[in-house]
Order: sequence, then C-alpha cells, then structure tokens
Amino acid sequence: MSRRIRIFDTTLRDGEQSPGASMNLEEKLEAAKQLARLKVDVIEAGFPISSPGDFEAVKTVAQQVKGPSIAGLARAVNEDIDRVWEAVQYSKKPRIHTFIATSDIHLERKLKKTREQVLDIAVAAVRRAKGYCEDVEFSAEDATRSDVDYLCQIVEAVIDAGATVVNIPDTVGYAIPDEFGKLIKTLFKRVPNIRKTTISVHCHNDLGLAVANSLVAVRAGAGQVECTINGIGERAGNAALEEIVMALGTRGDLFGKTTGINSQEIYRSSRLISDLTGLVVQANKAVVGSNAFAHEAGIHQHGMIQDRRTYEIMDAQAIGLKESRLVLGKHSGRHAFEAKLRELGHHLSKEELDRAFIRFKETADKKKDIFDEDLEAIVSDEVSAIPEKYHLKCMNVFTSLDGMPTATLKITTDDGAELVESGIGVGSVDAVYKTIDKLIDLPHELIDYIVKAVTGGTDAFADVTVKLGDDGSIYTGRGTSLDIVEASAKAYLQAINKLVYYRAKRSSKDGHVEKARL
Ligand code: KIV
Ligand code: ZN
Repeated sequence: MSRRIRIFDTTLRDGEQSPGASMNLEEKLEAAKQLARLKVDVIEAGFPISSPGDFEAVKTVAQQVKGPSIAGLARAVNEDIDRVWEAVQYSKKPRIHTFIATSDIHLERKLKKTREQVLDIAVAAVRRAKGYCEDVEFSAEDATRSDVDYLCQIVEAVIDAGATVVNIPDTVGYAIPDEFGKLIKTLFKRVPNIRKTTISVHCHNDLGLAVANSLVAVRAGAGQVECTINGIGERAGNAALEEIVMALGTRGDLFGKTTGINSQEIYRSSRLISDLTGLVVQANKAVVGSNAFAHEAGIHQHGMIQDRRTYEIMDAQAIGLKESRLVLGKHSGRHAFEAKLRELGHHLSKEELDRAFIRFKETADKKKDIFDEDLEAIVSDEVSAIPEKYHLKCMNVFTSLDGMPTATLKITTDDGAELVESGIGVGSVDAVYKTIDKLIDLPHELIDYIVKAVTGGTDAFADVTVKLGDDGSIYTGRGTSLDIVEASAKAYLQAINKLVYYRAKRSSKDGHVEKARL
C-alpha cells in the first residue's frame, strides 16, 4: 500500500457551497494559484454546468494553474460531463469527477430510480468521461447511508468501466469513525478489482467528525482525502485540509503516511481563503486559529520557556507562521517593513507598499506591539484589486449615554468630488452606515456584518467583514483599524466599491460578469 496520501482540495467547489462564500473568477484564480503553491494533488475548481461563471472559472484555472490536476464536477449525465471536459481540457492533468447518489433514500425520494438503473447510469457516466480523458473519478453520493452490498457492486462496476478514483463520501456527516473505517475495510475485502483504483474519502462535518472519519479511512486503506481550507463547505463544512495534513505529519509514527503538501503555505492559504470568502476563522480552530499557537497560562509559559515541546506538538513555523512576533515598531524604516512583508509572503507593488507603509506608521504610533497578524490585517486592508471609487476622508462620530449617536463623514470620489453629510443611528456603526447611504444613493441590502479582534488586548485591530446584496449578487468588504467604527466604515465602503465596480462591468457590453458573490 502506497505511503503517499493524495490531497484533493475542493475549496473552490464544495467549499464555495458554504452559504455566503462564493468567489468570482479572479478570486478563484488567486485561490487556485495559492493551492498550487501549497502543492495539493488535485484542485476541484468548480461545477461547470452550474453557471456560466463557474464554467469560466474552471476553464481559467485549467488554463493558468500548473502543477495539480484540475478537476470539475459533473452529475452522471452527458451534458454535465461534456461541459466539464470543455472546461478542464486545457489542463496538463485534467480530471472529470462524476457522481450519483447510491443510498435508498436518495434513489427513492430524489432520483426516483431503481438500484439497477442507477448502476447503469454510473457505468455509462464513467465510460463517457473516459472517452474524454484518462483520469476519471466516480463518487457514490451518500455512500455511508447506502446498502453495503449495493455499494460494493457499484464500486466494482465503475472500476471495470475505468474509474481511476472511486470516492466514498459521507455526504451528510452521518458516519462515526469506527463504522466508517469498517466500511472502507469492507470495500477492500469485498470488491475484487479494488486495487486497480484509488479509494478516496470525502467527509462532511455535521457531527464534527469529518477529520476523524477521514483519518480512520486512511488507516483502512484510502489513498486520497478530499478536504477544504479551513474546513469550509456545505452546511457544517468538509474535513479541514490543514488538520488532516498536520495530523498525518505529526502522528507519522501511527499513520506511516506522507502527503506532498508544502506545509509552510498552510497559514497563508488559510488567511487567503478567509479573506476571499469573508468566512472568519474561529480563534480556537485547530492549526490555523489565532490561538492555536498562543499560550496564556503561567505554567504553560514556564514550560514553553524551558522546552517548547512541553506544550506544543507542532512547530508554528511548520505551517508558515513566524514565532518571532515583536519585530517591528514605530522606529522601523521602510526597508525593514518591506523585508518583513516579504518574509510573510507579500510582494507588494510600489503603490501598495506606500499605502501599507503609511498605515503601518499610523498604527505604530498608536499601538505598542505590532504583530505579524497586524501586518497581515494592514496588507489585506490596503491591497485590493478593485478600484476605489469612494474613499473615506474623515469621520466624526459622537455618542453618549442617553444621547443620539451621530456621524459626520467626508468621502472623496475618484473624480475629485468631496461629499459631506451627517446622520443619526441607533448606534455609532448604524449612524455611520446611514450617513454613507445618504451620501451614496445605491440600493442594496446589508446581509451580514461580522466583527472580530485580530490580536488580543484593548488595542487590538478590529477586523470587520460586511456583505452587501444587490440583485442576487453578494459583495464582501473587509476593513481593519484600531477603531471598530472606522473598520466598519472601511468594510462598508469596500463592499460598496466592489458593488459599483461589478455593476458597471456587468452593464458594459463586454464586461461579462455573472451573478456572483464577490
Ligand atoms: O458531499 C458529497 O457527496 C459531494 C459529492 C459531490 C462528492 O460533495
Ligand atoms: Zn461534499
């Protein structure tokens, strides 16, 4: 049995199915390039038949991203399979991933087909995909609630039809580790041609067991694990890539397996996906949460000073985090600042660097300690590909106990105009948002507003994410500042700038942009 476990990343397909997490083409391409740096084996770039936008994204990733295999998802129908091939054919390593449900509940209630009919459809789908490319993956959707005899039968049939990978998804996150491990072992025992294929697993996290189930399946013989960055995905999400990779690495003594992942890129990948989707990573999230390598208790700190291994089973540097936190201060110059950003993996243009350096200096004047996370927040705030139509020039907010929160704002526009207005709200942020709405008359819906502190302490950076809806599309804005109201205003304006940009692009003749979440 091979020692190498293949990592199939589905952040851009299943991950993107997380409510509110959709990415546009440029964002998907940026994420896919990062996944290539992370050295995943397969990138599932999307579901091409689902929308023209998804088709374009898969095609662009196939054309531009080198290294991993590029897969697209297809139901077991000709039209879907043909569409996947149209998109992935540009990759050096294309894969068609086709699926159909195999559990009785899906057959009876959703597909309204018999087991025999579904088996025939699965075989026909694999054969059609095989007509296009060598690498074909078949998934038996809802495998963990399927009849085991029937599952063995269908797995054998699709392998005979040429499936190079057969995936056993725990689609609804129903399996318990013991039981899932047994299922994989049963397949290895009972399917005679199983060694001709790679068995893959794809676990959802409805009971918080996605990673545990995936690991148990690896011990039972699975050679591919499907997962997403930060564990994002449909409902409670998918197995988290970073947790699987670090578990296999840290407990190599037990698993005896390796992956081809460049773990140094894990933290950067996590931050990028969080930035692009607006899905904030919880502080105590394993491996990539902001507290994952933080030690608070005195006893722990004492142990750490003697020997890091007393309380740490992984090295923060292994995932690309820098342990040396307090490096930059207000006396640091531009060269040191630039060098530090490079060290963190940010290669900024001169203009971006100028903006980021001004923000850094302002921050260093107000805040004692500048951590790597603060720098990451500055970069994510200042470096945006979307042109800034509206810029927050100045803001006064007045609030008092029993009073009426009032905001006065000056916003400049890219054509040199200065807009000034005041407004009242139920709170400071509400007053600011109402004033911005008065200044910029742009119908939209505020869908979400999330605040988090990037680093600890009362002088922490506030990191605000705002989602605006406009005619079926969602625009995500992110703002960071030492002041929560300022961060909120910036996030709101960034989302508005995106909305204005994409609305104009959509209405222009050649600026073809699908309804999307941006
Ligand atoms: O969860 C699932 O079953 C899936 C399949 C399409 C692989 O996402
Ligand atoms: Zn799934």
